[in-house]
Amino acid sequence: MPALVLLGAQWGDEGKGKATDLLGGSVDYVVRYQGGNNAGHTVVVGDQKYALHLLPSGILSPGCTPVIGNGVVIDPSVLFSELNGLNERGVDTSKLLISGNAHIITPYNVTVDKVTERFLGKRKIGTTGRGIGPTYADKINRVGIRVQDLYDESILTQKVEAALDGKNQLLTKVFNRRAIEAGQVVEELLTYAERLRPYVADTVLLLNKALDDDKVVLFEGGQGTLLDIDHGTYPFVTSSNPTAGGACTGSGVGPTKISRVIGILKAYTTRVGAGPFPTELLDEDGEALRRIGGERGVTTGRDRRCGWFDAPIARYATRVNGLTDFFLTKLDVLTGWDEIPVCVAYEIDGKRVEELPYSQTDFHHAKPIYENLPGWSEDITKAKTFADLPKNAQAYVKALEDMSGAPISAIGVGPGRDETIEINSFLR
Ligand code: GDP
Ligand code: IMO
Ligand code: MG
Repeated sequence: MPALVLLGAQWGDEGKGKATDLLGGSVDYVVRYQGGNNAGHTVVVGDQKYALHLLPSGILSPGCTPVIGNGVVIDPSVLFSELNGLNERGVDTSKLLISGNAHIITPYNVTVDKVTERFLGKRKIGTTGRGIGPTYADKINRVGIRVQDLYDESILTQKVEAALDGKNQLLTKVFNRRAIEAGQVVEELLTYAERLRPYVADTVLLLNKALDDDKVVLFEGGQGTLLDIDHGTYPFVTSSNPTAGGACTGSGVGPTKISRVIGILKAYTTRVGAGPFPTELLDEDGEALRRIGGERGVTTGRDRRCGWFDAPIARYATRVNGLTDFFLTKLDVLTGWDEIPVCVAYEIDGKRVEELPYSQTDFHHAKPIYENLPGWSEDITKAKTFADLPKNAQAYVKALEDMSGAPISAIGVGPGRDETIEINSFLR
């Protein structure tokens, strides 16, 4: 069995944690390939709720080996507090593997994230403030600190000094902040080295060998397609590639090994932070979606912006990720509306546009063209098969499938593991 990718089809928070956990029992490895602790993935197991930020959701499945790939950025203090939290709840985390090539989020990356946002004022991105962008910037600028650097003090010191050289000029002269002392940073980073050591591995070799041995590898994306640095709503994006290609670069597994790419798709749309959002609802419907859907950020606690389903976005996700199928989540949240509007196309400067425009200006001007689908009032949270759903809910799912360009293989009707209607096996 080759590799599968599971990723967000919209702006994140689609329910990737739940979907990954659901598959965790049937796969050998779950790999995070990008992002860092900007992610917040919720997993509900029985009456227990877990919020994972950096750790792959497979960590909750005893038979599964969780892997943090080279494309991820790691804040060691967050990693350890997450591990401690899970250990206290009886979760065995000893199988975790971490790529020695993953980059470290240093304290100065977090500082730069925060001061940059403050400096941008009204033009801010609304980042999670976790140092994600500055850490990836350092990686691309070739002044990043990698996990393996923690095991060579002299190299680490040279690298931290090099990274801080320019930053301290900026911090003191532009942002009016105090300079950061390289020695202190090195000292802090070295305190993490020994605890990290048992987890550090050549994950590229290991994952490729596992695939050669017919093991099942599941890649779990952070964020979502429209937050992708290349394919998202730039500049209102994160600084990595959540889209399917990122699973290859962020893990060292080649594209020929991937047989399935599953897009996690919410039955409506949400977004956290700034940026365009054509179907956003600033009225009581938006408030109702937020309340019923519990749309509050797992990482920052911010209210999520809510809106109706946007079909051009789903089609775009199908295209840029080569999606083979969708897992439609949170259908239960839509119970109770007489009619449910779905955005089928946009009106941009008086013209009907069927697909997501590549131009940022056009997307900012896009007004949704809605089709109203009939709603349902029956409780669907106990539905186990597609046939258990009310006719109008079935029709809603089918309409979304027709508009989105890939089959819907599973439907979420609640946050729990068993609150899922599986239409096609994910592991066929
Ligand atoms: P992720 O970042 O993609 O993993 O998603 P989040 O965990 O940030 O947000 C998804 C939220 O929806 C979490 O609170 C989940 O427990 C919850 N959830 C996932 N699937 C469903 C579903 O089908 N129905 C309902 N009602 N909640 C769901
Ligand atoms: P999961 O994995 C939703 C958003 C932030 C901000 C932008 C850039 O739970 O779906 P960053 O800190 O990454 O530089 O912020 O990206 N963002 C998310 N929004 N879900 C996430 O993760 C997100 N991770 C980052 O709100 O708009
Ligand atoms: Mg989330």
